[in-house]
Amino acid sequence: MSRISLSRFLIEEQRQHGALPPDLRLLIETVARACKAIAHSVNKGALAGVLGEAGTGNVQGEAQKKLDVIANDILLEANEWGGNLGAMASEEMELPHSIPDHMPRGRYLLMFDPLDGSSNIDVNISVGTIFSVLEAPEGNTQPTEQDFLQPGSRQVAAGYAVYGPQNMLVLTFGQGVYGFTLDRELGSWVLTNPRMQVPETTKEFAINMSNMRHWEPPVRRYIDEMLAGSEGPLGKDYNMRWVASMVAEVHRILVRGGVFMYPKDARDPSKPGKLRLMYEGNPMAFIVEQAGGVATNGHQRILDIQPTGLHERVAVFLGSREEVERVTGYHKA
Ligand code: AHG
Ligand code: MN
Ligand code: MN
Repeated sequence: MSRISLSRFLIEEQRQHGALPPDLRLLIETVARACKAIAHSVNKGALAGVLGEAGTGNVQGEAQKKLDVIANDILLEANEWGGNLGAMASEEMELPHSIPDHMPRGRYLLMFDPLDGSSNIDVNISVGTIFSVLEAPEGNTQPTEQDFLQPGSRQVAAGYAVYGPQNMLVLTFGQGVYGFTLDRELGSWVLTNPRMQVPETTKEFAINMSNMRHWEPPVRRYIDEMLAGSEGPLGKDYNMRWVASMVAEVHRILVRGGVFMYPKDARDPSKPGKLRLMYEGNPMAFIVEQAGGVATNGHQRILDIQPTGLHERVAVFLGSREEVERVTGYHKA
């Protein structure tokens, strides 16, 4: 059987289903090319001198790793000249990055978490890239931060790359979820996981249990019930995984089901959770919903939240329908 490359897949989607405008197709190809370059750096590790701290901090107050900065630069550089974008925003930059005046501008806004799971870089555990695409308001050729603040339901595309035992790229533009594996020798993303679907039920959960004492009562209740296993109210034994890379957890859930949680906790009342809405919560929620799963902040659909800031935080419950609906229901009880 002939292999379907990412380029062929995107062109056929554009041609057959009219689901993908040509400028969005080019944008996705460019992001995918950048992810290939990031994969190359991540995979080289110490051989390329890319491990360790950058010695700088980002707007979140987090110490940046060398690869956080490298991945951010690769994405900026790759996407600047394509003519499809009005501006880009990133976890690693306080303000949006405008397309330079001497370059053509386009109608899309690109947001990214250039390297997700940074704490895993130096210990050789999966990390990834997450991205989200919105449209700038019509006729707006100089988009500002305000123009990015659209609910996730307005995303026109989202995806992630996971740099692990295999490098994979998972995409949606609102017509299902498709996974591609990087053929490292040919340098080509090959369709390996068409129409990914999150199983509706699961016995697997992912949460950072060390934060348990800080959680709100509905989350404690839910975790207590899962830990009680087959003798408890849920009547089944669960298994737990925590990779500490959201990309890796979401990927596992897309392949074999599960529920991922990063709830709001009491450590910093000004922050509703650790993860960022615009470039972590929204793109992952879009992907999970497109794969038949559910994503909420405990109270509402993540995709319905009206953002108020580029780096705003959000509580996240996502994955298999039955479990996410249960824990969301506990917040209402
Ligand atoms: P980032 O490396 O982009 O800052 O994101 C890390 C996030 C997410 O990927 C992961 O689920 C979570 O932080 C891990 O948090 P803990 O350190 O609390 O386990
Ligand atoms: Mn992240
Ligand atoms: Mn990051």
